[in-house]
This record gives sequence, C-alpha cells and structure tokens, in this order.
Amino acid sequence: MPDDAPVIASMSYVMPSDTRPCSYTFQPPPGIPWESADYDLRSISIHDARQADSAPQLELEGFELWDAATSVKDFLDLNEIRSVYYQEARELALAATGARKAYVFDHLLRKRETSDTPLSFGKRAANGMAAANGRIHNDYTEASGKKRLGMVIQDVKELAQVRRYSIVNIWRPIRNTVLDTPLAVCDARTIEPKDLVSCDVRYPNRTGEIYLVNFATRHRWSYFSRMEPHEALVFKQYDSQFSGCSRFTPHAAFDHPHIPAHARPRESIELRCLVTY
Ligand code: OGA
Ligand code: FE
Repeated sequence: MPDDAPVIASMSYVMPSDTRPCSYTFQPPPGIPWESADYDLRSISIHDARQADSAPQLELEGFELWDAATSVKDFLDLNEIRSVYYQEARELALAATGARKAYVFDHLLRKRETSDTPLSFGKRAANGMAAANGRIHNDYTEASGKKRLGMVIQDVKELAQVRRYSIVNIWRPIRNTVLDTPLAVCDARTIEPKDLVSCDVRYPNRTGEIYLVNFATRHRWSYFSRMEPHEALVFKQYDSQFSGCSRFTPHAAFDHPHIPAHARPRESIELRCLVTY
C-alpha cells in the first residue's frame, strides 16, 4: 500500500429520524435515555493531511495545523491552563484567523479509554478527563453560535461594536505523539446544510445545541498523522459570515487501524475561542 493511502476507520454518523435528538451530560430523569439518537457506524476513508498537495486552510477546508509550541508544564494544573495556556491560545487564534480580538471561554482535557473499549461519545471521565469522542459532531449550530456571542461578551458597548465573529477550537496532544486515536476533521466545503442535525445537549443548568451529521459520500475526511504536543489544530466551529469562509467543521475521534503495541492512550486538550474581526 502506498504511504499516502488513506486509512479506513469507523466513525458514528447520526441515523436519520423524525425526532430531535437530545443528549444528557448528567444522569437523566427516570425513563429518559442518555442519548436519544441512534448512530450509524460507518467505515470512512480518512486522508493524512500531511500528504495533501497543499496544506489545508482555516477559511477553506475549515482546519489548519500550526506549529505552536506551548510553555505549559502541567496541563493538569488548572491555574497554569488559565494563566498561561489561555493567553497563548488567544495569540494563536488571532494569528490563525486574522481577527482583532480573541476571547477564550472553555477548555476540556481528554484521555482515550483503554483501547479494548469501543470509542465512546466522550462522556465517561477518567481522572477528571473526558474520553475521546467518536461521534461526528460540530460544537455549535446556527442558533447556539449566535447565542454564544452574548454569553462571551457581556459589555453592551463592546457587543454593539461586533461585526463579523467566529468560534474556533484549538486541539493539541498534551503528552505524547498521538498514535492511537487521532481527531478526524471533515472538509467544511463538503458539508451541505441538509447534512446537519440539531441536537440538544442538556447540562444541569442550561441546554446547549450542537450538530450531529447525516452520512453523505461527498464528505471528505482528513487527520494529521502522529500529531505532537508542539502542534495545534485550529478548526472552525461557527462563523457569523455566511459566504466566502468556512463555517462548520464536523469532527470525531477514530481508532487508527494500525496502533503500535507501545502506543500510549491519547491525551489532549481542546479549547474554544470566540474571535471578532
Ligand atoms: C473537540 C472534540 C473530540 C476528541 O475538540 O471539539 O470534539 O476526541 N474532540 O478529541
Ligand atoms: Fe467537538
């Protein structure tokens, strides 16, 4: 097999249904399932973006790899994340988007569960870390992307000045080279609005909304092989501008078909950042 052949791996699309999907982040009331949707596990070709003829770009494919070392020593130290990593991420988000202001509002640490466990939907946490998430989704929808602006910028004057804004995720390995369970991203240009299915996400004190994704053969999937902690994947989750830019970049974790025996479970941090132009 040539070196640049795509890998084939399983990821969970959503099964078409008449009812609006809903998932819980905490123990649901009696009789209500954690996840109401049914998932459609598909074998997908995932290209190694390092082999692409030209490097993917944030405003085209919806994702971009940056060589951006971090000075964070301990990602388990919440104070260091807030004081050091958030500032680094703001700078990276501005460099990647060309925006004027950046507001980091959320982050999450993940660790792949033992590799004999099937990829979960990211819920089960081990030592305070979420599991890798094998369910194809986009973190914001048309509605929740719009709503997030007012949650992040509360100053009325500052809010009134905002024209275009977008939300990007910044994802990086925190300890080792990722060999087992990378993050796959779908070329935003291959997504059509009819592919996107709004799904409620219930938190104890509010309901968020993400997109799940219907299967389509036109979707083109990529990942960056052997990502290292000095590399960061920046990918678009929402844009208030409708045309001429990427807007939604669905993504999911997948188990690489060739995991070396010595591979350690992937540990990563993802961070969400709203930028204004
Ligand atoms: C994300 C995400 C899943 C994973 O970064 O938004 O959904 O397994 N990540 O890293
Ligand atoms: Fe996500």
